[in-house]
Amino acid sequence: EKGGYEHFMLKEIFEQPEALKSAIAGRIKNGKPIISEIKELEEFIKKDLKKIFIVACGTSYHAGLAFKYFMNRYSKIDVDIEVASEFRYMNPHVNENTLVIAISQSGETIDTLEGIRIAKEKGSKVVTISNVFGSTIPRESHGAIYMNTGPEIGVAATKTYTAQIAILYALGAKIIEITEGLTEEIEKILSDIEKMPEIYEEVLKNAEKVKELSREYVNYQHMMYIGRGFGYPTALEGALKLKEISYIHAAGYQAGELKHGPIALLDEQFPVFAIIPKDSLYEKMKSNLMESRARNANIIAITTEGNDEIKELTNEYLFVPEAEEALYPLVIAPIIQLFSYYVAVLRKLDPDKPRNLAKSVTVE
Ligand code: F6R
Repeated sequence: EKGGYEHFMLKEIFEQPEALKSAIAGRIKNGKPIISEIKELEEFIKKDLKKIFIVACGTSYHAGLAFKYFMNRYSKIDVDIEVASEFRYMNPHVNENTLVIAISQSGETIDTLEGIRIAKEKGSKVVTISNVFGSTIPRESHGAIYMNTGPEIGVAATKTYTAQIAILYALGAKIIEITEGLTEEIEKILSDIEKMPEIYEEVLKNAEKVKELSREYVNYQHMMYIGRGFGYPTALEGALKLKEISYIHAAGYQAGELKHGPIALLDEQFPVFAIIPKDSLYEKMKSNLMESRARNANIIAITTEGNDEIKELTNEYLFVPEAEEALYPLVIAPIIQLFSYYVAVLRKLDPDKPRNLAKSVTVE
């Protein structure tokens, strides 16, 4: 059932071209969003929608964060996001003009479930993105969008993370179409998502190289992931993946925050993993890399194909194909997943069953 792969996690990483294809099938066509699951909410979105609030945990929260950056760039709608365990105990500013988007692979995460119950009591509409048909959160929502990626067995979310981002962008585009009208820029992003399965085939060809590089990082005790803009959710997700399966302490930061504290940690024992595609924030990221290097930190970076100056700035680097800025969270995800997978395996750990973790978090 592992299809010849050593672990489910590796199988699921390699399934991403197919998983993404089924996630967007019938949802994006020729650059246009088709989300029939929200048909009944279209009136509400057109007339009443004033704010979107994203509620999720862990990796699903990181997908939500990428979506927040997407909406911030391409729409005027207010978007807020909170992890579900905070949302449910705060006084969330949601009402009958709010669309709450819950993201939950399992559809059973207790905090997310309680979060949407509160939102519904306050009169909000709820749409859920989930991978498990008939699970509780989508059943209790006004709209349910199923990811259709096939079951995910490995405890670490991989293919469902990328499916979530693709579906969220399509959903966002649909909301923009209803409220403000689609633009060519957004259509271009959606057509590029349609090409993502082929792009993933290319990205996944780097697996052996990632394995080689990961050897250099097996014996560290810490790792700092940094990114800016659309690179920030990737930094958080990279750090989460590494700590949960390799038990190496890792944290993700907005690179601009380094100076406000975290840079004090850096030395030859504390490497930096930089998410530095050739996007609008490249030069800013480059300064952060140089500052990190000046502290003798080992640097591994993911950047865009052809950016040869990266060789001078880093110890190790990997290229990904050039993409629209908003799509780098999708393009880079398989690399950070493979990196943590190989580090865990080289540390003789079972990435499918990390200690202390469950696939479905149904208790607080
Ligand atoms: C990390 C991971 C967890 C989940 C989180 C939310 O790899 O899998 O962080 O993302 O527990 O789970 P769902 O999406 O099922 O609500």
